[in-house]
Amino acid sequence: MFKITRSEELSQNEFDFWIDAPRIAKKAKPGQFVILRIDEKGERIPLTIADVDAEKGEVRLIFQVIGKTTAALSKLKKGDSLLDLTGPLGMPTEIENYGTVMIVGGGVGIAAIFPILKGLKQAGNRVITILGAKTAELVILQEECRQYSDELIITTDDGSLGMKGLVTEAMEQVIAREPVNCSWAIGPSIMMKFCTLTAEKHQLPIYVSLNPIMIDGTGMCGGCRVTIDGSIKFACVDGPEFKGSEVNWDEFISRMRQYQPEEQASLSDYQKAQVNQHG
Ligand code: NAD
Ligand code: FES
Repeated sequence: MFKITRSEELSQNEFDFWIDAPRIAKKAKPGQFVILRIDEKGERIPLTIADVDAEKGEVRLIFQVIGKTTAALSKLKKGDSLLDLTGPLGMPTEIENYGTVMIVGGGVGIAAIFPILKGLKQAGNRVITILGAKTAELVILQEECRQYSDELIITTDDGSLGMKGLVTEAMEQVIAREPVNCSWAIGPSIMMKFCTLTAEKHQLPIYVSLNPIMIDGTGMCGGCRVTIDGSIKFACVDGPEFKGSEVNWDEFISRMRQYQPEEQASLSDYQKAQVNQHG
């Protein structure tokens, strides 16, 4: 059992948990993820490790409620436990000194990009971070990201904080202003696709983190297959990070949409059952 030691609601639909998991906290590197199961009947869901507290032996998981399992997870509080937490899984980010790097986080993807920017800053890079969200209250981890960034640019779709517009517009402004050696983008698939197109236009290398459906997380089930540079890869063992320019975005985006109706139906059934149970 893995105890929740701290829990906070970051916004209406986004939650921040610290979990007691000393072995995972000791080994986890930026870019890696865990697979969790709430209870015996629960499905297994992957979540990127947003941070580790090596001293306390805790890992930080930040998630958005999108289906039944994340809705059930959001009901847990400090002191509750998860049945399983497996990890760290996946290939870590290649952290080295590239020079100037650009880090782009969109919505809840900001949680997944945070350990990468922290690692790159600690490796001596000049870090320019762009955080984008629909509105001000959804720009999470601002202070943590600022702490490990030489420059922090915020964009919101509605203009309620920072620059009004998309993260790709901020990318263009930075690229026009100064040379950048490497970049990373994590957020909705459509954002990662357009960040890739923007980076490609300027011959800027870009890495993205793919989050397809995952089941076993060990390369056995094939659920997380993606096409990279024309070959089949498994995001759980070969990724989740890949070069953006090698991802078959149309296939990835269509596979991500494939299970949305089932996900929404199971969330709606869960919410109805909760109302019936608690009135
Ligand atoms: P969102 O829809 O609010 O988008 C965040 C930002 O992405 C926007 O503010 C905008 O700047 C940018 N964006 C969106 N569409 C764009 C486009 N067409 N061109 C350029 N920029 C665009 O984000 P959300 O609602 O918080 O959703 C977060 C998503 O991130 C979820 O779909 C989740 O699955 C995904 N996610 C991915 C990972 C991962 O590891 N890949 C991790 C966590 C979350
Ligand atoms: Fe099964 Fe990746 S989750 S192969």
